[in-house]
Amino acid sequence: MVEPVLTDLPAVSLTDYAERARTVLSEDVWDYVDCGSASEVTLSANRRALDRVAVLPRMLRGVDTVDLGARLLGRPYAMPVGVAPMAYQRLVHPDGELGLASAAGAAGIPYLASTLGSTPLEQVTRVGADVWFQLYWLRDRALVRDLLARVVAAGCRALVVTVDVPVLGRRPRDLRNAFRLPDHVVAANLPDGRDALAHAGGPGVSALAAHTASSFAPALRWADLAWLRGQIDLPLVVKGVLDPRDAVEAVRVGADAVVVSNHGGRQLDGAPASVTMLPEVVDAVGGDCQVLLDSGIRSGTDVLRALALGAAGVLVGRPLLWALAAGGERGARDALELLAAELTDALTLAGCADPAAAAELRTLNAG
Ligand code: FNR
Ligand code: LAC
Repeated sequence: MVEPVLTDLPAVSLTDYAERARTVLSEDVWDYVDCGSASEVTLSANRRALDRVAVLPRMLRGVDTVDLGARLLGRPYAMPVGVAPMAYQRLVHPDGELGLASAAGAAGIPYLASTLGSTPLEQVTRVGADVWFQLYWLRDRALVRDLLARVVAAGCRALVVTVDVPVLGRRPRDLRNAFRLPDHVVAANLPDGRDALAHAGGPGVSALAAHTASSFAPALRWADLAWLRGQIDLPLVVKGVLDPRDAVEAVRVGADAVVVSNHGGRQLDGAPASVTMLPEVVDAVGGDCQVLLDSGIRSGTDVLRALALGAAGVLVGRPLLWALAAGGERGARDALELLAAELTDALTLAGCADPAAAAELRTLNAG
């Protein structure tokens, strides 16, 4: 009898996809996806802090079936989860952005398309998912205006401005690997040739860091966001706040949601786990905008933890790249089905008929 190998069995947790991805990705691409910045303290803090959130379940609440539906930015979605914006998805699989966006569409959740996508955003919106466009503010304001016009023309449902990347965090694994984009992966939303630096590099250099340093505007202010708010008639999301005072600034410039995030531990190392800051941010905005959480979400239990702490929903990053790497669009669909099943279980066990009910649950620091 032939022993089944792990990859022939269905994944039973999102982390199963990590092992599979590791076997198919080259070491430098695996490291780019997996790594955090500096000593990777914040990267590991994200997991530790989530594990310390204990949720007190309620009993005998008469919950028969769970409805995972949730409204994000005023639109109905099948669950309170979005695909985190992630650059260059064709690095991990030829299905790339089209595969992951199709999987999001099938799951009924939003797909956040990165400025640094390796597939033009107009092709991504054509797969039919709800696409929220994630903007990295470029030094060249004419390019920002062009992107905004394309975002509207392509029918994106929201604009997400990521504010935690004035420069890319220093990522030792990428520096050691002299990480650069292979020729077949391009920054497809930028004009031709504007990604040359991302393909260059040399010993001890991350070509991606060099490229972002030359392309991104590092000295933005809240006034720039207020300008942006006036340019575009779409819901505005500010991604990458940790300090409640910044969440209040975001509300002041007209944000409809903030994402409490430390970029998956890839930017300021030593920043707190994003879930640690979630309750204070929820308090500070006091219902004036929705609060989403990312960084370290790996299961339905983690989604429940975020909801119980007052988040309207979460974004999931690396696990979906692992699933895409392992099985293309099919892998990503399976991963999202698994997450929905886990969230259904978690809500049922906690006595919640839907995600909104989870906001009433008590949480404890399990120390
Ligand atoms: C990212 N992230 C990110 N964020 C963003 O706003 N624009 C981007 O282009 C990218 N690119 C990107 C690439 C890769 C490979 C990773 C892993 C992450 C950050 C992302 O949106 C999200 O904040 C984190 O990934 C969430 O943490 P987890 O779920 O990966 O732990
Ligand atoms: C990253 C960028 C591109 O985290 O956001 O790699």
